[in-house]
Amino acid sequence: MKDFGREILAWYEIHGRDLPWRKTTDPYKIWLSEIILQQTRIKQGLSYYHNFTEKYPDVSSLARAPEEEVLKCWQGLGYYTRARNLHHTARIIANDQQYTFPDNYKDLLNLKGIGEYTAAAIASIAFDEPRAVVDGNVIRVLSRIFGIKKSFDKPEGKKIFISKANDLISKKEPGKFNQAIMDFGSIYCVPANPDCNHCIFKNDCYAFRNDQVDKLPVRSPKIKIRKRYFHYLVFNWNDPEQKTLLKKRNERDIWMNLYDFPLIETENTMKWKDLITHPEFKKLTKGLIFNLRQSSPLYKHQLTHQQIHARFFMLDITALPNRKNYHKTKKSDISKYPVSRMIEKFLQDYP
Ligand code: ADE
Repeated sequence: MKDFGREILAWYEIHGRDLPWRKTTDPYKIWLSEIILQQTRIKQGLSYYHNFTEKYPDVSSLARAPEEEVLKCWQGLGYYTRARNLHHTARIIANDQQYTFPDNYKDLLNLKGIGEYTAAAIASIAFDEPRAVVDGNVIRVLSRIFGIKKSFDKPEGKKIFISKANDLISKKEPGKFNQAIMDFGSIYCVPANPDCNHCIFKNDCYAFRNDQVDKLPVRSPKIKIRKRYFHYLVFNWNDPEQKTLLKKRNERDIWMNLYDFPLIETENTMKWKDLITHPEFKKLTKGLIFNLRQSSPLYKHQLTHQQIHARFFMLDITALPNRKNYHKTKKSDISKYPVSRMIEKFLQDYP
């Protein structure tokens, strides 16, 4: 291998993507972009980046915003812990450190929601600190070109990848180097059927020379997916005069602080005739007369570690129960609350 760093930077000059956060060295904007891109594709993340930077152009404006407003802005992106941590950390920076943004890897790592990847990305892109980022794209590129056959999910493998990336990083242009290798992985050295015959590394690439492109990187065994069954009770849905009930989720969970309908969660899917015998259902509807108007098809939502199956039961009910933590809400006001993508889909399907 001649000079990996120089080659990848030369490739990046020509093929690198033109992205808004590449035109700035503002650590706040770089931080925001990296948090958005953690679990979101660039195409989808772009509009959120624009909305956020317009609404909250700096750390202090984000810190001043109510959490509910930030979650509303994040609506549709999923993995809301990202938004909660972003907001929490903005408040810490704005309040405790007199508006100075931590300017090195070690200090960045101390912040909530900023792990090794994000700290390296901000430190290198905003502050030129030679810290290599290692994400899925980088792992694929390095494992193929250098024939690394360890899994990144094992401590030994992780160490090898991080150390290799740090050996290779350009000391002069670390931020560019990091973005170059990520772009190369996502545009060129793609998971399936990469165009190896025209690749700039084809003479040196271990995987190409040894016919192992589809075997690298080594994947670790699949994690177990937890299945959850949600049964939502949507009161008085087709009656414009009557309100429905909404509840702010306070469970320490993916959707914490978002709003949803009264929910009965079970280990298995339940039919209506069984649901009405469930203790929580009985508690919610105690003393009231209800009638099922309609039930929705099953909505499926796939997350990294869990799969959610939800059904919405639209009921007419004689009166809305007064229950702690439940809000009586007009149908037309629901759009003001932050809700999960699944509830948003339901609202679109059943306006
Ligand atoms: N994925 C996450 N952050 C990225 C960045 N800055 N450049 C390219 N791909 C990315």
